[in-house]
Amino acid sequence: MADRDILFYPDPEAVAAEAARRIVDRIASRDRPTICLTGGSSPKRLYELLGSEPLCRQIAWDRTHWFMGDERFVPIDDPLSNMGMAKRIFLDRHASPQNVHAIPTDATEPDSAAALYQTTLQQHYGAAQFDPARPLFDVALMGLGEDGHTASLFPGAAALAETERWAVGVARAGLAPFVPRVTLTLPVFASSAELLLLVTGRTKQVIFARIQAHEPLPAARAVSNGATTWLVDDAATTAASRSRIAAAVQEIIVMGVSGSGKTTIANALSQRLGWSFLDGDTLHSAANVEKMRNGHPLTDQDRWPWLNAIADDAAKRRARGERCVIACSALKRAYRQALINDPDRIRLVYLRGSHRLFDARLKARKGHFMPPSLLESQFADLEEPSPEEHAIVIDADATVDQIVEAIVARLAR
Ligand code: 6PG
Repeated sequence: MADRDILFYPDPEAVAAEAARRIVDRIASRDRPTICLTGGSSPKRLYELLGSEPLCRQIAWDRTHWFMGDERFVPIDDPLSNMGMAKRIFLDRHASPQNVHAIPTDATEPDSAAALYQTTLQQHYGAAQFDPARPLFDVALMGLGEDGHTASLFPGAAALAETERWAVGVARAGLAPFVPRVTLTLPVFASSAELLLLVTGRTKQVIFARIQAHEPLPAARAVSNGATTWLVDDAATTAASRSRIAAAVQEIIVMGVSGSGKTTIANALSQRLGWSFLDGDTLHSAANVEKMRNGHPLTDQDRWPWLNAIADDAAKRRARGERCVIACSALKRAYRQALINDPDRIRLVYLRGSHRLFDARLKARKGHFMPPSLLESQFADLEEPSPEEHAIVIDADATVDQIVEAIVARLAR
């Protein structure tokens, strides 16, 4: 199975806000944004956010197209209709009617509605075969049913194996409401730049734990050729899965040469996790700072007292029951060994990037004691983490938000 990121949020509001932010960002970056919506109750708050200030002003309504990933085979004004719900909550107020592509439930039967919708999708895409380099959807939203279904792909259904048809009729739903359905198939959801799967509420605890235990349930098989991200709230996680994510790791050390962004990232990560932040640079002796300011690289002798000061500070926080994110270059393996006395408790994040990238950043940086000329010596001292160190290696050439979310996702795995 391709990789997916699982991101955890305190409540459904935070999940909705994150999903909305991602959708608005995707829409902003495209000429003809194409969004695939989902039914069920999970996306309702998200739809309210998209339809109200301030986000509704950031959406190019005249250019954005809206599809539905699955539909209950009922008239669009029936309270059970998925597109009916999306229209009532936000589309009717903002979207251009010709950009709202409902599954035609006025067809004679689910299979013919599916065939018609396949044609609509293929016309919009401009081809009947997927080109992996050109996703159909910019975002495909999905939900998780209590039996592990997603869209109307229920466990054991033949539709899960579909490779040709883009949409199929589903005569019998596996879960309430027990009306026939129409669903898009897995290759169609795969043709998305980003697949966002929303999981909120206590009723999802058991099934989410089963997903985390790698059961091959339909929702686990919905994977994008681009990015697959699950946005999960606290209530949907069991105590066991929460503690596996959070309690085991007490400290995170963000390492890298100067200019890699470790201070910015460690600070942002600490805020994201609600942990304290320890900026290693603030513990350098005045002599060390002076030496660097004058363009002289530090030696091991200069660095050991500094590393000890960081270890002491971290130990004090630990004794207070505080969890913390530490920014420290930790260039050599021996330095890291001194800081990491318990690898189960302390995770290492390594911000990797090129000499060119970091040099440009250092030249743009004002008011810092570290001159760009020392970058050479930093790379010379750098011993990249070896596989046994189990570092989370992150490409430093991304935005702060992207890096922080990538770290959080990797911590949760
Ligand atoms: C539907 C959906 C379905 C839904 C899940 C989760 O038509 O019911 O599209 O796949 O996403 O069942 O539903 P809730 O959000 O209501 O839990």
